[in-house]
Amino acid sequence: MRFSINEGIVPHDEAALRLGVAAYVAVAIAGWVLMGVLIRGLAELGQEIVLGLRRELFGHLTSLSLRYFSEQRAGWIIARLTSDVDAVSDVLSQGLPTLVTNVVLLPAAITALFINDWRLGLIALVVLPPATVLTRWFQRRSSLAQLEVRDRISAVTAHLAESVAGMAIVQAYRRERGFGDRFDVLNDDNRAANFRAQRISALFFPSIEFLGVVATVAVLAAGAGLLPTTEIGTLAAAYFLLGLVFQPLQQLSDVYGQLQSASAAMVKIGAVLDAEPDIGSPPQPRAPSRLAGEIAFDDVRFAYGTKEVLHGIDLVVPAGACTALVGESGGGKSTLAKLVARFYDPTHGAVRVDGVDLREYDLVGYRRRLGVVLQDPFLFTGTVADNIRFARPDASDDDVSETAAMVGLDRLVRRFPEGLEHPVHEGGSGLSAGERQLISIARALLADPRILILDEATSNIDRPTELLIERALDRLLAGRTSLIIAHRLSTVRRADEIVVVKHGRIAQRGADDDLLAQEGPYRRLAA
Ligand SMILES: Nc1ncnc2c1ncn2[C@@H]1O[C@H](COP(=O)(O)OP(=O)(O)OP(=O)(O)O)[C@@H](O)[C@H]1O
Ligand SMILES: [Mg+2]
Repeated sequence: MRFSINEGIVPHDEAALRLGVAAYVAVAIAGWVLMGVLIRGLAELGQEIVLGLRRELFGHLTSLSLRYFSEQRAGWIIARLTSDVDAVSDVLSQGLPTLVTNVVLLPAAITALFINDWRLGLIALVVLPPATVLTRWFQRRSSLAQLEVRDRISAVTAHLAESVAGMAIVQAYRRERGFGDRFDVLNDDNRAANFRAQRISALFFPSIEFLGVVATVAVLAAGAGLLPTTEIGTLAAAYFLLGLVFQPLQQLSDVYGQLQSASAAMVKIGAVLDAEPDIGSPPQPRAPSRLAGEIAFDDVRFAYGTKEVLHGIDLVVPAGACTALVGESGGGKSTLAKLVARFYDPTHGAVRVDGVDLREYDLVGYRRRLGVVLQDPFLFTGTVADNIRFARPDASDDDVSETAAMVGLDRLVRRFPEGLEHPVHEGGSGLSAGERQLISIARALLADPRILILDEATSNIDRPTELLIERALDRLLAGRTSLIIAHRLSTVRRADEIVVVKHGRIAQRGADDDLLAQEGPYRRLAA
């Protein structure tokens, strides 16, 4: 530009002007191509990073223990993988190209400004101190505001997820209005937090732009004073270069806002990634290749948080034997079962299988020997067969239908036109509670486990089907160690030993007849 004006326009030299314009066009085309390649490459890199981040997050989540999931709200975790990752994605796909190009462009433009005329360059620097102060202010205020935004949006997601899961109860108790109002409050908080963050940006960006104008005015005013020694083309070039300095500055300040948002999101994502999986395999795990299956609780105490719910349990289930746990609600039966599945570790004492502390086994290998039917069975989207096969994905169709028949599921699915291919929705909705239980029993059995845990596995199943299962149980339990929890005492009579759990202690134990003969909690449960 300087050449075109000073050598072309001012002395009316057309050839020089043509040369200057041609050079300008050539540089512009090169910039156009380079920019395209850069944006493409960086966008690809950004998306790769986002992909890796999501994968890392999900992988880490699946390694966390049950304790983590019972303490966190589902929606809060979902917000980490969706809106937080999106904030990072935004800055990577849109912000990264701007960042990289301008970080290159800015020093180049400043250098060119000084080469063009160092005095004009120095004058432009008057805006440097206020710009620094402004940027520091923005950095502090914005990062706090952005953290607030992340918290608010995850509160909205968490409320949404909980409402969807509990919609039947919300409607049954006519709480639509209350839930709606609560949602409005959270939604409004979210809007306010976003607005606060935007207000800080609204002060910052225009101020940077204004400083650009101040610099230009200063350069033009000073340029007039310097004019006797400065050529008009040099002044025009300085004006042009100032544009090249302040345009990147403005864009960088814009990206800076996105960066603040993304770094707040990374703080939240980091909180998930930093959560330590407290249940895992030791450095030198023992492979539980051949388990006999003797389970021993050795003075086991356990607390959820600070509340101790098991107060010193001593219990041995011999290999191949069946022990039933009975007792009033909240006594600690399911907790005992969860300790055997090693969803939690005892706070004192040890759970041993074949004399080895569960903490010494390879966790995955140990769980492979385990079949569990939890008190609230969960099924996944797919078909009935898919859900049974969940325990052993390589099982043949025959294995699946045979296992289904063993627990009486064949009679039930005959009512579905698709049979075992009947679709199942998330959580098992669309099926009756008893159907869900039968499917989970079949799922546990297909794993062909050494140790079988049935927590209230037949509580929702009609008596005829339960009788069928009980008859099958003799065969199913043969050669396996089993822990059966049931409220219906008819279910537990067949156990080798019945243990009454009360307030986290063993209150009574023995065979059905002996227990009935004694005065004690068992007789009261039976009554
Ligand atoms: N995830 C948890 N966090 C905190 N406390 C829990 C948790 N799960 C259970 N508890 C508490 O631990 C105690 C024992 O619960 P547990 O589920 O073992 O009882 P249970 O004997 O299986 O009862 P039920 O017959 O009703 O199934 C209860 O007081 C319960 O409130
Ligand atoms: Mg229970």
